Parts: sequence; C-alpha cells; structure tokens
Amino acid sequence: MAMVCLSDFEAYAKKYLPKIAWDFFAAGADDCSTRDENILAYKRIRFRPRMLRDVSIMDIRTKLLGTEISFPVGIAPTGFHQLAWPDGEKSTARAAKAMNTCYIASTYSTCTLEEISAAAPGGLRWFQLYIHRNRAVSQQLVQRAEALGFQALVLTADLPYTGKRRDDVRNGFRLPPHMKLKNLEGAFEVCKMSLLDPSVTWNDIYWLRSLTHLPIVIKGILTKEDAELAVRHGVQGIIVSNHGGRQLDGGPAPIDALVEIVEAVQGRVEVYLDGGIRKGSDVLKALALGAKCVFIGRPALWGLAYKGEEGLQDVLKILQDEFRLSMALAGCASVSEIGRHLVQFSKL
Ligand code: FNR
Repeated sequence: MAMVCLSDFEAYAKKYLPKIAWDFFAAGADDCSTRDENILAYKRIRFRPRMLRDVSIMDIRTKLLGTEISFPVGIAPTGFHQLAWPDGEKSTARAAKAMNTCYIASTYSTCTLEEISAAAPGGLRWFQLYIHRNRAVSQQLVQRAEALGFQALVLTADLPYTGKRRDDVRNGFRLPPHMKLKNLEGAFEVCKMSLLDPSVTWNDIYWLRSLTHLPIVIKGILTKEDAELAVRHGVQGIIVSNHGGRQLDGGPAPIDALVEIVEAVQGRVEVYLDGGIRKGSDVLKALALGAKCVFIGRPALWGLAYKGEEGLQDVLKILQDEFRLSMALAGCASVSEIGRHLVQFSKL
C-alpha cells in the first residue's frame, strides 16, 4: 500500500497495533470532543494565497531557540514508544536526527535518556518533565538530561492529574511487564500516575531554574493570562497545547488559542503549538497565526508503528513535502514570508 498522507499511517497503525496500544495512543478525555476539535479547527481556516511570487527556490528551514532545523515540525513528547516499535524512543531519536529536527523525549520513555542520546549522537533533543511528588526524582532527571546534552527543558503544565480516557479504563491499560518507564526505574514503583505532583504552581519555575542552565519551555498553555505569567516567570518558550485532547475535554483547539497567546507574548518568547497537525497546510496555518514551529504527537507514533525509524522518517518527509508545497502555492518562498496576511481573519 502506498503511504501518501498521514491518514494512511493512522489506518495502518489502527489495523496492526494491538487494540490496547491503539486505544491508548488514540485516546482523548471523556467523549473526545476536544481531541476531535483539534483537527476540525484547522478545516475552518481559509488561506489568502498570493500569486506570481517566484517560488522556484524554497527555504523551509527555521530556528528553535537559536538552533536550525530543516523545517518547522518537531516531535512532541509522548510516552511508551515501545508499544509502537520494539526499539522505542531510540528509533524516534534516530529519525529526528536523520530529518534534522527536534525530538522532545518524554519523562515516560521506555528507553533511558542515556540510550536515547547514544542512539543519535548530536541530534537536537529537548527533555519533557513531569514534576513528581518526590522532587529529588525530578531534580535528578533534569540534571541527567542536561549532562547528556539535551538542549531545553519542557515543563508540561496541563497534567496535575491524568484526564479520564475511557478506553484505557475499559481496557485496564497498563504497560506490558517487559516494558518499563526506564527513566524512573528504582525511583518508585512505575506506572503510578498518582505520583505526579498536583500542587505544582508558577513558583516551581523558579525551583526548576535553580536546577539547570537549560532554557525552560512550558507546554500546555491555552490562555493569554497564562502566557503572560509564563513570560513573567522567565521561560524561553511556550507550547500552546491541550495534550492532544487527553486532559480537559471542552477546552479550545490549540490553533484557536494561538492568536491571543501570540498577541500577549509580543515576541518576548518563542511560541510553538501541538495538537491536530495532520497536513503540511496545517503547519502553514499555525505559522501564519504566529507559531514558530509545531510538533506532532500521534502521527509520530503511527510512523513508528509502520516501520520504526524509517516509518517515522516517512511521516516527517511527507509533512515536509506537503508543507513546502503549501507554502509555494500560497506564494511564500521562505518561512520568513509567512504571516497573518495568509489567512482570512473574518472567518476565524
Ligand atoms: C501524549 N502527550 C504527552 N505530553 C507530554 O508532555 N508528556 C507525555 O508523556 C505525553 N504522552 C502522550 C502519549 C500519547 C499516546 C499521546 C497521544 C500524547 C501529549 C503530546 O505531547 C501532544 O501534546 C499531543 O499528542 C499533540 O496532539 P497530536 O499531535 O497527537 O494531535
């Protein structure tokens, strides 16, 4: 079967993954209205394409906190990659490096940070942190990541508790016995999400700052108020995200929350987005509305499920080609030419 678009990888993963793994990847909270809205919201946005603008030479590179990547799509942090492919996060790291983009490794990886680093030396990697009740565990993780050359810390802010994902409850989802949350081994018995610290506040950013020299990016922001607080607390980046619709059902799609956040931030920090990116034209819409870069969650897992590292590279290549084509058809030869003029605001 020819793999032409990201939906083809989704269909493959749905067909061939064990049901319990597919359900875990696909899950949204409650009746999944926000998960589904994440995708629908892009379909409501229309372009204002410009013509006759010499798009014979295209430059789709961009920079993340000063580091160049080949195009403005990175890999969002998702847990348990061995559920998709035996080599797990090692394959993810290799694919990201081969495509010269950024991979945000999750606290809940099934490979150690050391294994991930060794799999793709020199690749651009950020480390995603959940703060645990046992602060020493989190401190150690942050310091390990920094020592291993991860280049930023991504603090996920939208998970004081895990959202209610009905299929996981029905399936009694848990990791198979041979898979482990390798970075937390020995720290406490694994798979007890309740060990996340629900008392985390903005002040904990100062605590994190005291642990590391790495830039801090905060993930899971959906309002201008929180964006303003993030800037005031000294973060370097914001990921507009609703965790792929897996947390609060009924919240906005990230693409709809983006504009107020970009306006509030006024260029003081970089703003990124994840959630619902399935086509190159979705990437173009997010950049037109002010995102510096977007990240993909589930599509990366579908790529891994298809053919590991190679499958994830295929997913990224398809998105890259679609993005380049969308840019050209909208009249932009370089990422710096993308702006709000490209979207019909009256329809937003
Ligand atoms: C996630 N997400 C997530 N986020 C995070 O900060 N740490 C994590 O460990 C995970 N784990 C995770 C597992 C799975 C299976 C999914 C689907 C998602 C959220 C993720 O980073 C991202 O916000 C969404 O996946 C983006 O939406 P799309 O691209 O999946 O639509």
